[in-house]
Amino acid sequence: MDHFLYRDGVLHAEDVPLSEIARAVGTPFYCYSTATLTRHFRLFDEALDGMDHLVCYAMKAASNQAILRTLAGLGAGMDVVSGGEYMRARAAGVPGERIVFSGVGKTRDEMRLALEGGIRQFNVESEPEMRALSEVAVRLGVVVPITVRVNPDVDAKTHAKIATGKSENKFGIPISRARAVYAEAAALPGLEVIGIDVHIGSQLTELEPFRQAYRKVADLTEQLRAEGHDIRRLDLGGGLGIPYTRSNEAPPLPTEYGALIRETLGHLGCEIEIEPGRLVAGNAGILVSEVIYVKEGEGRDFLILDAAMNDLIRPAMYDAHHDIVPVVEPAPGVEQTAYDVVGPVCESGDTFAKGRMMPPLAEGDLVAFRSAGAYGAVMSSEYNTRPLIPEVLVHGRDFAVIRARPTFDEMINRDTIPEWL
Ligand code: LLP
Repeated sequence: MDHFLYRDGVLHAEDVPLSEIARAVGTPFYCYSTATLTRHFRLFDEALDGMDHLVCYAMKAASNQAILRTLAGLGAGMDVVSGGEYMRARAAGVPGERIVFSGVGKTRDEMRLALEGGIRQFNVESEPEMRALSEVAVRLGVVVPITVRVNPDVDAKTHAKIATGKSENKFGIPISRARAVYAEAAALPGLEVIGIDVHIGSQLTELEPFRQAYRKVADLTEQLRAEGHDIRRLDLGGGLGIPYTRSNEAPPLPTEYGALIRETLGHLGCEIEIEPGRLVAGNAGILVSEVIYVKEGEGRDFLILDAAMNDLIRPAMYDAHHDIVPVVEPAPGVEQTAYDVVGPVCESGDTFAKGRMMPPLAEGDLVAFRSAGAYGAVMSSEYNTRPLIPEVLVHGRDFAVIRARPTFDEMINRDTIPEWL
């Protein structure tokens, strides 16, 4: 459930008509709902009720300071994957002891940054990384809590570009080698082995792959304990999918996911961490755009929007579907038209949807891409020298720009001219 609903014939974000925001900030823009963010975070938190747990929001999904601050205020920890994300989390007021550092290629500089600033744990993804972390920790005179990310070799049944838990993927260490890696970790100075980490992919729409992975983690926990490792924390990653269409999809709910965790891992008495990104932010954000032209093609009409692939890359990159709805509510029973919905960027890949059935639209009409809150703004670029679009946060009847659109001068002045030119 989200808080983007038609009211009095206009799509609202909570209590604010999107047309009002469009007038104030111009299009295109991203718009987030505080109530939806809050609701989705709480769903996870409540799903793990009764277990010692921390929900570490995977901030790669949407990392605006205002979003992080909203979630941190609800008690969220953060899952970060770069020095930049670490700094963002800290800037939003998240203490180091609630920040988990994931990622397949952490540099020594990033390790130093987090060790000096404070960190809850590192999720280590390879032996070379483990040795580097040990070196950095020893040099700083600290002992760092670690988990090792294991790759359980299960099929997450999601898009190939966002599956991470098969043996051919670059992530984690093969679970078959885990015992040897844990033995080495225990022997390295500066590291304290405290748990196991697993993350098998994103936009999972079934529980079964989680079940398979978590069973393997349960077995591994017992084996490692038998070998003397004090396994007391399990980081189970993120990945729970969201419905991208209103109609037929019904991915498992956080409560069902929580029940699965209890069932597969509850008996181990470990502290549980999860790292949801998409489910927290995805349906808490939309992208609002204006129709620039309606162009008649052969056998199809093109709806040319002022948003493009540089603003929302998911359709071009993952063939992702986003519902696109008019901001002004269509009259009931209005006859629909097939549109190819495209942006102005000079690439055929700049196509959001083909043959999409929509109510008739005209120049100047506003449309909203639903489910654009996760992996939307964070993956945008200034390709074609199109300014990054503003982000707006709504809270009841209030709204605020939480990232402004840069001016052309600001964009151009980031470049510097060498002295010989
Ligand atoms: N933890 C780790 C270690 C991850 O790599 C990810 C996502 C998450 C947690 C959060 O997963 P979520 O709950 O959001 O599924 N850009 C792609 C998604 C990439 C996901 C990368 N890792 C997309 O737009 O679909």
